[in-house]
Amino acid sequence: MRKPVIAGNWKMYKTVSDSVATAVALKPLVANANHCEVIIAPVFTALKSVADRLEGSNIKVAAQNCAAEQREGAFTGEVAAFMVRDAGCSHVIVGHSERRQYFNETDTSVNRKAQAVIAADLTAIVCVGEDLTQREQGIAENVVRGQITGGLRELTASDLDRIIVAYEPVWAIGTGRTATPEQAQEMHAFIRRVFAERHSQSAAESLRILYGGSVKPDNIAGLMAQPDIDGALVGGASLNAESFAQIVNYK
Ligand code: PGA
Repeated sequence: MRKPVIAGNWKMYKTVSDSVATAVALKPLVANANHCEVIIAPVFTALKSVADRLEGSNIKVAAQNCAAEQREGAFTGEVAAFMVRDAGCSHVIVGHSERRQYFNETDTSVNRKAQAVIAADLTAIVCVGEDLTQREQGIAENVVRGQITGGLRELTASDLDRIIVAYEPVWAIGTGRTATPEQAQEMHAFIRRVFAERHSQSAAESLRILYGGSVKPDNIAGLMAQPDIDGALVGGASLNAESFAQIVNYK
């Protein structure tokens, strides 16, 4: 059985004190959520304070990015995976479409970052997804396959349990336009087949695949009812403790 994961991506929102306040408000609201793993991803500056306040709770903390370099060094402005682990994180989001779109993230850098996350003993939430033009051209599956084979080029079978895949169609992020549960299911099943071809059927069956893109309290249950949807990566609706808790407590 794959344990679902509901992760909140706070993007570039909230000061340290706002982040801590939201995390503290969330804690009691999801305290009984044993059916899934709960993760929040605040900005770098808030990671340590949030992780400290969540110690002993069932909420885990993720960074939204990390350096491709595995060791410390002269890399101004970068933060290594082992440093976010030191700050209390267990997960790192890698290759979010906003990073691909605005910060030159490529499958090559995604691959290096995923490797850095695994080397630091953390779990990478690796994002893939086509944009609107690609979907309209009918090449969405090819795009996603390319992102998996390129972005996880060096992934070995023994590292598969260090990876969570997030399928986030770019056209559904922050637009209020969610993929239908059927559209999402179709792509999730395809992603699982790609992993089965590359690794093994059993590895593919244990892989968690999250859906992301305008997930809200009122559409989470329909998405989670699909057999290959194992959770959600939530942006806008995760910024508020109550709405994120409603998503976490979808059942
Ligand atoms: P959204 O963002 O829920 O605001 O669409 C999802 C994401 O970018 O991970």
